[in-house]
Amino acid sequence: MQVLDEVTDELADLVRSASRVAVLTGAGISAESGVPTFREAQTGLWEQFSAEDLATPEAFDQAPALVWTWYRWRQALLLQVDPNPGHAALARWQHQLAATGGDLSIITQNVDDLHERSGARVLAHLHGSIFDHRCVDCTKPADLPAPHYDGFAHPPEPAEPPACEACGGSLRPGVVWFGEMLPMNAFDSASAAIRSADLVVVAGTSGIVQPAASLPLLALESGTPLVEVNPEETDISDAMDYCLRGPSGTMLPAVADAAL
Ligand code: OAD
Repeated sequence: MQVLDEVTDELADLVRSASRVAVLTGAGISAESGVPTFREAQTGLWEQFSAEDLATPEAFDQAPALVWTWYRWRQALLLQVDPNPGHAALARWQHQLAATGGDLSIITQNVDDLHERSGARVLAHLHGSIFDHRCVDCTKPADLPAPHYDGFAHPPEPAEPPACEACGGSLRPGVVWFGEMLPMNAFDSASAAIRSADLVVVAGTSGIVQPAASLPLLALESGTPLVEVNPEETDISDAMDYCLRGPSGTMLPAVADAAL
């Protein structure tokens, strides 16, 4: 494993020669847009809770208003931020490979839409979308108006989740919570993209949450090179061929430039 603070000539050659690229992204790629990651301390109203405690079916059963309001607050936050240069670099690289008969598959654990808003196509949202809602009882999807809060410094009043128009059950966010199954289609297409890739990039994930964290390791079976982009060492760094130690907003543009 090589730990790098810039794209070396050797890595640039590898990137340039890759025509089928799979990229797994996590919360770190949205950090420079102003979206807090999952394992950093929360602030304000939420500082006494960890994100991991709120993102569970048990938390929603016990405190539905708290969990619902946390997700609505995160939705409102997401609507006020923009994609950053890391998202833009992946979109640019994806378009460029598509124009030359190649392919770049984005597989994300993020429930935000910042990849899409940067002009990229996402193959798989492994943990669903924060902008989707469905009934906990009959599973019917529901459309809700965008949330709005006046200033993020002022905590929103916890509000009960709305009732499903079809059956009166409670609505929930369309995300995957800890302990829940991943959408099968998303997981299968992500596995296929990694197995058929000739380069796998892992950006902004701690590599802790399974089964998403083991997806890039499928590349080990075929000897496909693995590149990590993260300012910190992670649980999966040891499996990487190259670790680019820096923020994705700087490192991914450098990687995408090398592909030109
Ligand atoms: P985490 O919050 O676990 O990890 C974020 C990672 O991003 C860490 O490894 C940071 O070092 C890294 N990071 C921070 N700033 C960065 C930057 N500017 N550029 C690049 N990397 C940076 O987030 P995930 O790995 O995405 O699941 O977490 C995986 C899943 O656990 C989430 O999808 C969510 C969470 O709980 C569910 O809700 C089911």
